[in-house]
Amino acid sequence: KEWQEKGAAQILRKVKNADGQVSTELVRKSIKNFKLGKELGEGSYSTVVLATDLTTGRFYAIKVLHKRHIIKEKKVKYVNIEKNALNRLGSGHGIIHLFYTFQDEQSLYFVLDYAPNGELLSLIKKHGTMDEESVKYYSTQLVDAIDYMHSNGVIHRDIKPENILLDTDMKIKVTDFGTAKMLEKNSNDEYPSDTRASSFVGTAEYVSPELLNDKYCGKGADIWALGCIIYQMIAGKPPFKATNEYLTFQKILKLQYAFSAGFPMVIRDLVKRILILKPKDRISLPEIKKHYFFRGVDWSNQESIWDSPPPELG
Ligand code: ADE
Repeated sequence: KEWQEKGAAQILRKVKNADGQVSTELVRKSIKNFKLGKELGEGSYSTVVLATDLTTGRFYAIKVLHKRHIIKEKKVKYVNIEKNALNRLGSGHGIIHLFYTFQDEQSLYFVLDYAPNGELLSLIKKHGTMDEESVKYYSTQLVDAIDYMHSNGVIHRDIKPENILLDTDMKIKVTDFGTAKMLEKNSNDEYPSDTRASSFVGTAEYVSPELLNDKYCGKGADIWALGCIIYQMIAGKPPFKATNEYLTFQKILKLQYAFSAGFPMVIRDLVKRILILKPKDRISLPEIKKHYFFRGVDWSNQESIWDSPPPELG
């Protein structure tokens, strides 16, 4: 009863009856339609595996969730949020696409885009630091993806380099919407920008000060995480990092971070405007788009953002 069947996967199959007549029937897609390959990732409540669709030969990443574990750990709500958020965002640029979901006795399955170039975190680690052109390339896409999520009433709340995957063409795909917040449209046809949070806390290094202070979690939380990630692409490590979560939180609340000598001035200026304790004083997305660092970016031209090749990384 817990798992709704709405929007479930279906495929058309041609069948021949005894008289040799051909008709089509609707068949539910199931895990039997895929050949499972290597494990791509593991979370506390799920495993992601590479899968090949046996009819088309296409690759997918299938997220497998074990029903018993989800129920025991009281995570049913989050599984539904992830599915609803991904369905609401559809096939928008910069967002992992959910093709279909299905289930069997033991498990739930999310059939997702396969992003063969892995996590942005691995790219940052591999290069230690990125040049300004590369930071601009990835952060332009991230800004546009966050704008798209927020315009559709979805706050991600756990944006971090592990949750930013890279597709075949090195374009970003934001994933892991299990901790997202879905906003209701108000009478002015707009989504609110701030909202009281529940007990949720994201990943320590990227968590916003307002969430730590007031349990307040709005769109500003994703902007804060963006600032941390832009910093990390230059510095090689996030701005607030300590030996444990408690000390990391202390650093965030005291805005205790520093720029190294070689940190580019333009990016320094942008990061300083993002990493501001009060969400009301923090630079907004429209202002970020107008920042000098993004000069030359035509935000109204989606192709220019999503169809240009990535800069060479040394
Ligand atoms: N790891 C987790 N999700 C993934 C995906 N969709 N593609 C590739 N690797 C992943």
